[in-house]
Amino acid sequence: MISSQIQIASYLFASILFILSLGGLSSQESAKKGVLYGIIGMIIAIVSTVLGEGVHGHIYIIVAIAIASLIGVAVARKVEMTAMPQLVAILHSFVGLAAVLVGFGSYLDPHTQELTGTLKNIHYVEIFIGVFIGAITFTGSVIAWGKLEGRIRSKPLIYPGRHLVNIVLVLFCIVLCVLFISAPGTTGMVFLIVMTVISCFIGIMLVMAIGGADMPVVVSMLNSYSGWAAAAAGFMLGNDLLIVTGALVGSSGAILSIIMCEAMNRSFWSVIFGGFGDAPKGEAMQVTGEVTATDHEAVAELLKEAKKVVVVPGYGMAVAKAQYPIFEMVERLQKNGTAVHFGIHPVAGRLPGHMNVLLAEANVPYDIVLEMEEVNEDMDETDVVLVVGANDIVNPGAENDPNSPIYGMPVIQVWNAGKVIVMKRSMATGYAGVQNPLFFKDNTDMLYGDAKDSVLKINGHLS
Ligand code: TAP
Repeated sequence: MISSQIQIASYLFASILFILSLGGLSSQESAKKGVLYGIIGMIIAIVSTVLGEGVHGHIYIIVAIAIASLIGVAVARKVEMTAMPQLVAILHSFVGLAAVLVGFGSYLDPHTQELTGTLKNIHYVEIFIGVFIGAITFTGSVIAWGKLEGRIRSKPLIYPGRHLVNIVLVLFCIVLCVLFISAPGTTGMVFLIVMTVISCFIGIMLVMAIGGADMPVVVSMLNSYSGWAAAAAGFMLGNDLLIVTGALVGSSGAILSIIMCEAMNRSFWSVIFGGFGDAPKGEAMQVTGEVTATDHEAVAELLKEAKKVVVVPGYGMAVAKAQYPIFEMVERLQKNGTAVHFGIHPVAGRLPGHMNVLLAEANVPYDIVLEMEEVNEDMDETDVVLVVGANDIVNPGAENDPNSPIYGMPVIQVWNAGKVIVMKRSMATGYAGVQNPLFFKDNTDMLYGDAKDSVLKINGHLS
């Protein structure tokens, strides 16, 4: 057992470590240190909470932590990098569910029932808001998991008047909150249950209405919701650390969502409210031109001649785990005197920073990894662009087809380079499910096959 003063000091220390952790995660060089701060902060938080005054049944808590840790380690070891967003989404759903359960538990707690006057009203509002946010986070995250896992279609489910329905439901929840607060004893349970069902429905409908291409923002938005749900649970439990941590996650998730919306040229509010007026008004533009295929030897020859090469990786590079042979190829080209850079789109892959993580894993130096704007500036001076398993992020339709679901999203303008080689297995569409006119352009050749396999074969011809 530790005294409440020691617990407060530990909470303060853990909060500082969480802030340092977020600071560390803001750059690739300090990211590992950031993760370490987070781990130490979390250990301090859990130990000081479990050893705090008024906590009983330590044996059950230890058994629960041991089982959960085993499951966590097993899942983390098994999960593929490409399935990370799904894992993150389902973990967010746990936070939401936890907030709902804490809310119900807190309402039934005999200490809550002893509260009177303003204190009681405030605590009941905390419970109601906590359960409301938690339930939306829970079902919204489950739907996001389904969409990312490909179990639920990524096309937005849009029905007329859905915003009105959502607004009416939220207003009805406010009425339920008033009834909940004024209900004597635990009779308010019925209002709490009805509100939980309604917010579960709102969570489902909000994420169902969001299209595939906007999913990155949804994942970071749900991250933010899960933070606010944790903060609400902190209020219900009177736990300062949970409030601080929840607020950190909530606000950083919201900031990330805004940054991603800016990167994708989307209105923050339109994504949050389920694609306000986002639906394309007509048929997508007809793609014209012919698709030409090339082979590994021809690509190797092209690369040997090139002075300036840009590699644009996408989700397919992650699937193929092609980052290692790609870096080998880059080193060979550099030895040949070729200037090679990577061009990274902010939503390439399936999670923020996905490509940066993979390239760092293969020890690619940070100074040759450039952002979209930087490579776009010099694209017309680039001899060859290798598009490795990318599709939506190099789709010219995003710039010139107002009926494309990704219209308005900034893309890497690879078609402005001298020659474009697209490595993918087929003519299949990318995540947003739209045809890519890039493949039909005169200066584009397709190199079909698994990206890793293709790069290994090119390397063979380069040596
Ligand atoms: P996508 O548009 O999804 O295209 C990936 C392409 O990789 C596919 O067309 C696929 O074509 C190819 N591919 C798959 N496995 C391959 C393999 N083993 N070898 C070679 N190619 C392979 O990816 P992108 O260009 O990176 O764009 C990302 C998309 O995901 C955007 O629409 C974005 O909005 C969305 N999204 C992003 C995030 C974040 S935060 N980054 C989160 C959720 C959704 P084949 O089947 O023909 O090989």
